[in-house]
Amino acid sequence: MAKNDKVHIIDHPLVQHKLTIMRDKKTPTKEFRDLLREISMLLGYELLRDLKTEEVEIETPLEKMKGRHIAGKKLCIVSILRAGNGFLDGLLQLVPSARVGHIGLYRDPDTLVPVEYYLKLPEDLPSRQVIVVDPMLATGGSAIAAVDRVKEQDAGEVKLLCLLACPEGVKAFHEAHPDIHIYTAAVDRELNDHGYILPGIGDAGDRIFGTK
Ligand code: PRP
Ligand code: URA
Repeated sequence: MAKNDKVHIIDHPLVQHKLTIMRDKKTPTKEFRDLLREISMLLGYELLRDLKTEEVEIETPLEKMKGRHIAGKKLCIVSILRAGNGFLDGLLQLVPSARVGHIGLYRDPDTLVPVEYYLKLPEDLPSRQVIVVDPMLATGGSAIAAVDRVKEQDAGEVKLLCLLACPEGVKAFHEAHPDIHIYTAAVDRELNDHGYILPGIGDAGDRIFGTK
């Protein structure tokens, strides 16, 4: 995993391979969604690398031994609707006991400013480590607004997981939330005038749900 201060680029060959197929405009919706589920597990595997473990005693069929279990803070995945939901199946396969929060945000097509339309977070957020998930970090507005909401609830440690970022989004996000680590498969070249990441994958929500 390439690492740059608080931006973690998870460029494992399997991730690069799957991401390249996802970028291809010819990749159909079902395959895109399947790849997002697979890639979310690979990204989540790296993001969760620092999970705390504790010793437990078990008995194999042959003898007693000390093994390790996940310990410490429990997890909450906060999905930015609607594209963030594309990460949920994969991440919940990794950590089935995680709680899930939702923040509904859409970008105003003219101003690109995020508009909130839904919010439901677990009540016990302060006792949980939070992973905010959204495939795209473009202007950064949506991720900033989502992390604002999560911080208002006094969450424990917060991390941001996305599929693709761009320099403009990383800069804006870290100006607003310098303490939060970003995990992504790639930081693409730039944003275009309409707030789309280049070369990118297009509109993540449309590609996951086949709405265009
Ligand atoms: C997309 C994407 C992010 C947001 C990123 O959502 O899923 O949430 O744009 O852009 P930003 O960094 O400039 O805020 P969109 O607003 O298109 O809504 P959708 O997920 O419902 O399609
Ligand atoms: N949202 C998307 O879905 N794609 C982009 O490239 C930028 C924002």
